[in-house]
Amino acid sequence: MTQYSMSPTGVKFQLPTPKDYSKEFERLKKVVAEQRVLEREIVVVMGLGFVGSVMAAIVADAQDEKGHPSKFVIGMQRPSTRSFWKIPLLNLGIPLVSSEDPEVPLLIERCVNEKKTLTATYTYEALKLADVVVVDVQCDYFKESLGNVREGRADMEALEESLEIIGQHISPETLVLIETTVAPGTTEQVAYPIIKKMFKKRGIESDPLLAHSFERVMPGKNYVASIRDFWRVCSGVNEEATRRVVKFLKEVINTEKYPLTVLDRPIESETAKIVENSFRATILAFLDEWSLFAERNGVDLIKVIQAIKVRPTHSNIIFPGPGIGGYCLPKDGGLGLWAYRHIHGFEDEIFKITPMAIDINDTRSLHVAQLTRDALRNMGRPIASAEVLVLGASYREDVGDTRYSGSELIVRRLTEMGAELRVHDPYVLHWWEFEKQDEYPASSHSLKRFFRGQEKLKDLRVEQDLKKALHGADAVILTVRHKHYLNLDPDEVVENTGGPIAVIDCFGILDDEKIRRYFELGCEVKGLGRGHVKRIKDQVREESRMQNEKCKLQNAK
Ligand SMILES: NC(=O)c1ccc[n+]([C@@H]2O[C@H](COP(=O)([O-])OP(=O)(O)OC[C@H]3O[C@@H](n4cnc5c(N)ncnc54)[C@H](O)[C@@H]3O)[C@@H](O)[C@H]2O)c1
Repeated sequence: MTQYSMSPTGVKFQLPTPKDYSKEFERLKKVVAEQRVLEREIVVVMGLGFVGSVMAAIVADAQDEKGHPSKFVIGMQRPSTRSFWKIPLLNLGIPLVSSEDPEVPLLIERCVNEKKTLTATYTYEALKLADVVVVDVQCDYFKESLGNVREGRADMEALEESLEIIGQHISPETLVLIETTVAPGTTEQVAYPIIKKMFKKRGIESDPLLAHSFERVMPGKNYVASIRDFWRVCSGVNEEATRRVVKFLKEVINTEKYPLTVLDRPIESETAKIVENSFRATILAFLDEWSLFAERNGVDLIKVIQAIKVRPTHSNIIFPGPGIGGYCLPKDGGLGLWAYRHIHGFEDEIFKITPMAIDINDTRSLHVAQLTRDALRNMGRPIASAEVLVLGASYREDVGDTRYSGSELIVRRLTEMGAELRVHDPYVLHWWEFEKQDEYPASSHSLKRFFRGQEKLKDLRVEQDLKKALHGADAVILTVRHKHYLNLDPDEVVENTGGPIAVIDCFGILDDEKIRRYFELGCEVKGLGRGHVKRIKDQVREESRMQNEKCKLQNAK
């Protein structure tokens, strides 16, 4: 049966058939032979996701001292129905992720169509041609329950499969650079033995040249710079691997301005990534309790944070928004816990803060459903059957990445409570976590399993027309600081909804003037960490009462 893969914009691509593979390898061999004449190093980037697709282009854009391209990159992606579309699109020079960074499309177009230093493929045979393999596949952490990261496990399947395939194909001189965020210990204790075993089967006696260097990419306005113009940490399993990884990174990344940190062993580089992200998860989780404190005691946490931030020692204090999403922060600490027990074999529980932070972050957004219920209740409307619009599906501003976004849990909880949900996001065309909730991120991995009454959500579509989305809404939840939502005019919003609504601000999007205006228009406003709205509401009510009194007096005269 012919199988297809559909791109997010709805273009259908036929998956390759067995006879396509040899033709594809011939194509690659031919182009690689031409590139070798030009003395370019051949780099295979495995996994064309958020990281790999842009990293591949950055490597393909590298040049030597004379300004000539120094690398030829083959982006390799497994041809699954979910992901195959990435290959033909990239080969047209089209970015695979939508973001606010204008450099992403320019870079990809330049490397694919002008410099012709980047191509994409589905055949693992490409690995045979590589001088360097960069591994950018995912390594997930599967949680068995909501809000308890301890009940979970690292899902190494994709990574282990990739490493096996690498070991079956590469030449012994190929450098394998693992960029995937892994459970600390993976490079030496999982990857090394897998590749070594494959080498042995092929009669290769030498040690694999393995290294680790994690990505600090931030998909968004500075997507490209967050990979190319940023500090890197790296380490190799032996002297030669370390030498090779340092050389490679110096050639593709701006290490002159952003010097490399070379650590003694890969476990140190792997731990650095996990600690870095656990630190961030922890400072975000820490503010959850203060957010509730603020709501219950008339405090605007947004202003409190701004007041603290001016102190240079506290400049990285950040407001958490509705849950901490993105691919990394919800899982990385879990990989650390799991490694301690399952790679290194310890039995005791040394981790307290890291799992607690993840658990707090994973459930923070449930509170937004309560705020929505309360705001509607104050307006005399039940949450059941209320039309609720969520503005923003992504986990962060100005990017189309919905992985573990707080908005997903808000939609799920409110649906469970009987509300009718709709969503708008200018960067997200399909919210696969709902549309394909029985198979995405993988069958039985959907957060759907923690809620009841979720079936209808597979019909949830992301509206692109904001006016249409607003029409007839009873409640509007501002979940993401997309630039499109920062300056929404309350009068226009209420005109478009067709009457007063409940407005829930999850990310400090509304200033006091807008909050006041919503109240003047008869709306209810609530917000995460925004206890002062009650004060504004009381002021508006008092002013309106005085106004009424004045009118009554004037009428009586
Ligand atoms: N997204 C981020 O912001 C970010 C930031 C820093 C680090 N990271 C880390 O980088 C790694 C990759 O993340 P991502 O966001 O790019 O993930 P992703 O899921 O977007 O991409 C992974 C890609 O690898 C492909 N893949 C899986 N197995 C394969 C195989 N055997 N052969 C070829 N391709 C295969 C998948 O189909 C997918 O396209 C993760 O470890 C992540 O934690 C991500």
